[in-house]
Amino acid sequence: MKTRIIGTGSCLPETVVTNDDLSKIMDTSDEWISSRTGIRARHLVKEETTSSMSIEAAKRAMENAGVTADEIDLIILGTVSPDYVTPACACEVQAAIGAKNAVAFDINAACSGFMFALNITNAYIQAGLYRTALILGAETLSKIIDWKDRGTCVLFGDGAGAAVVRGDEKYGMLSFDQGSDGVKGDVLACLNRTNNNPLVETDPMLSYVHMDGQEVYKFAVTTVPASLQKTIEAAGLTAEDIDYFALHQANIRIIQSVSKRLHISEEKFPISLDHCGNISAASVPILLDEMNRKGLLQPGMKIAMSGFGGGLTWASAVLEW
Ligand code: UT7
Repeated sequence: MKTRIIGTGSCLPETVVTNDDLSKIMDTSDEWISSRTGIRARHLVKEETTSSMSIEAAKRAMENAGVTADEIDLIILGTVSPDYVTPACACEVQAAIGAKNAVAFDINAACSGFMFALNITNAYIQAGLYRTALILGAETLSKIIDWKDRGTCVLFGDGAGAAVVRGDEKYGMLSFDQGSDGVKGDVLACLNRTNNNPLVETDPMLSYVHMDGQEVYKFAVTTVPASLQKTIEAAGLTAEDIDYFALHQANIRIIQSVSKRLHISEEKFPISLDHCGNISAASVPILLDEMNRKGLLQPGMKIAMSGFGGGLTWASAVLEW
């Protein structure tokens, strides 16, 4: 039995904010942002929330897969920006779509969140515990970034992506790799609320994302090609056999560097960061959904996917579509 993605969906907030829009409210420029990152615009929430976008993406993925809520027995959602500490966003999705037979929980693996969800689902399916899963990556990063820090706030966006995954006899996941390096956790961090119990004297403090961009960049351009290479080899394939590489959308220069290191044309690396920015856990499923809806993905095609980011964490998978 293989773990196959049988449907995708996504949801982006209605409001688009371009680099030029940002340059009117802070000291930045379209030239700086687009030449350094490839980002030209991002969607930011006004009314939308992490759960409202997740629910919409879930409905679209279920419709695309032709699966009803009753058939879903597992929901895993990757996020670092849920609406609540509890209940989990996955439980909110479960309630809204009426997936009463499902077990639902969130995971925090930052930008690798969707890929971790896929790999966990694969383990459950291989173990014979569940057959049909809904996996999501969803973020409202605009509420946890510091809008006074031009070095980070121009990079991120909001949105949600989802996929329906099912055990399949013919096509599906061939291999995966995942890892973590907690020692380097501080290069991309966001502190949770501080303790305000009667025994501790601290000022309640709001904290925002802090990133050492160059350290994250170095981590990405070494770890991602190595993880992809390992996963492709484990599938019994070479990089040339892969039809598309669906990577976390953080920076066009990281994607170009991976393409160079693997000696694979950039044409095989579809992009959504130009109009979405970096949406952490939501980047990979939104990109997959865009590829799917453009008709790029045909049954049996070999797709390599990779997520990387806070933790630090990384995860790759090779699958037949
Ligand atoms: O999903 C998580 C993964 N995250 C990533 O993958 C991020 C990886 N890192 C990167 O993509 C890059 O490090 C960045 C795009 C974040 C930054 O690029 P950089 O080439 O490392 O720039 P820098 O931070 O070294 O800044 C260079 C200059 C500085 O000015 P000085 O000190 O040289 O005068 C910054 O103050 O650019 C300045 N700067 C800006 N200028 C205009 C920083 N942000 C901006 C801005 N607009 N938004």
